[in-house]
Amino acid sequence: MNLDSERLPGHVGIIMDGNGRWAKKKIMNRIKGHEYGSDTVRSIVTAARELGIKVLTLYAFSTENWERPKHEVKALMMLLKKYIISQRLELSKNSIRLNIIGQKHRLPLDVQKEIDTTISLTKECDKMILNLALSYGAREEITFAVQNIARKIELNELSSKDITQDLISDNLYTSSMPDPDLIIRTSGEYRLSNFLLWQAAYSEIYISNTLWPDFSKEEFIEILKNFQKRDRRFGKV
Ligand code: FPP
Repeated sequence: MNLDSERLPGHVGIIMDGNGRWAKKKIMNRIKGHEYGSDTVRSIVTAARELGIKVLTLYAFSTENWERPKHEVKALMMLLKKYIISQRLELSKNSIRLNIIGQKHRLPLDVQKEIDTTISLTKECDKMILNLALSYGAREEITFAVQNIARKIELNELSSKDITQDLISDNLYTSSMPDPDLIIRTSGEYRLSNFLLWQAAYSEIYISNTLWPDFSKEEFIEILKNFQKRDRRFGKV
């Protein structure tokens, strides 16, 4: 079966998992796993763009990840900064718009600065949106949305009757984007881990046993073919 480019998922979310286990298997330290994982990020972003995916959301750092040992958090921030700087022109050349979902303000200032530069360089790019979920947690996102709506009610800009599903969606980090059609998690774990909980209501889920540093374009294509075989009913018959 060939991939049908007319029936691609518009939005793919990926929970990139298994860097640490990959490193352990190779008797390397965890940071090496993240380094190789960054290379996979590069190749999968390129692949998604080539295949014609419109929105790619990568879970790169969760709100819970701040609890990891200090040196690991530091290494992840450094890799992130390196990625943002080294891929800036590539993203722009390929018309990929960088967007951050999550608490950008909690990231180190130097990382925020490089992110802002790349966001502004790619702001007119319209072939694909690359959402990097950084210091992201879905419960925090929903809480923040509820606070925003409550503030508007306090200011009499809204009434409680105006609270609809669309209004809630519009107050999330992903406002104006379609919900993910497909969520992939690597490393064989069957969990959403606080990723896009509201948006995932009707997402197809695919669990791959591959550890993230070994994830490839070829496997990505096979998963997209698997997605195209699924019967999506959205709760209907
Ligand atoms: C999960 O592996 C992965 C992460 C917590 C971070 C993902 C980060 C990268 C892929 C690299 C840097 C990001 C970018 C965007 C360049 P894990 O450490 O939880 O693995 P384990 O479960 O096997 O320990």
